[in-house]
Amino acid sequence: MSTLDIVGLCGSLRVGSYNRMALELAGAVMPAGMTLEIAEIRTVPPFDADVLARGFPPEAQVLRERIRRADGVLIVTAEYNFSIPGVLKNALDWISRHADQPFAMKPVAIMSASPGPLGGARVQYDLRKVLLFMNAMVLQKPEVFIGSANTKFDTNRQCTDEGTRKFVTDQMSAFERWIQGVRRMGAL
Ligand SMILES: Cc1cc2nc3c(=O)[nH]c(=O)nc-3n(C[C@H](O)[C@H](O)[C@H](O)COP(=O)(O)O)c2cc1C
Repeated sequence: MSTLDIVGLCGSLRVGSYNRMALELAGAVMPAGMTLEIAEIRTVPPFDADVLARGFPPEAQVLRERIRRADGVLIVTAEYNFSIPGVLKNALDWISRHADQPFAMKPVAIMSASPGPLGGARVQYDLRKVLLFMNAMVLQKPEVFIGSANTKFDTNRQCTDEGTRKFVTDQMSAFERWIQGVRRMGAL
């Protein structure tokens, strides 16, 4: 069986981002048959339909094609004001345009991290709504909310909390099975 190519998107640009650390953790604990490459969304310009009318900007086009090639997408995001950080929503808005948008039938897994107690519980349901529009195949469970994230990673970006490691590991195993299940469904 070939390796599953997973693209990671992080909904925070901060160097010290807990969500980025959680994304890195996911890459480290994934089953052996999966690999993670984190795609950068920092340089994607603000969405402008007039620009789109002339064609996708290169930064958005690169992201679209990277996602198209991937076997799955892992989105790990901060929660801003109970919802999706603008920088991530902006990238998703570019990616979502035109009938050939690459999230259609794409397996997706979601996590969130926050210093707050709920771990970004609310952003995940807004994100699911957006991905529903794009016809993405979003893994439902196990959900991963990393609350009190500021206490769960050390200065070397390593996760020090066994419970968090287990939740992330379990989700990645479920994601591998989900991708294979979506493939079988597509083959029907
Ligand atoms: C504009 C803004 C809005 C925020 N809103 C929320 C929120 O609704 N819920 C929450 O748990 N944390 C919220 N926070 C705190 C973030 O969870 C915190 O900054 C976190 O560290 C961001 O993720 P990161 O560590 O990956 O950058 C907010 C932070 C900012 C800057």
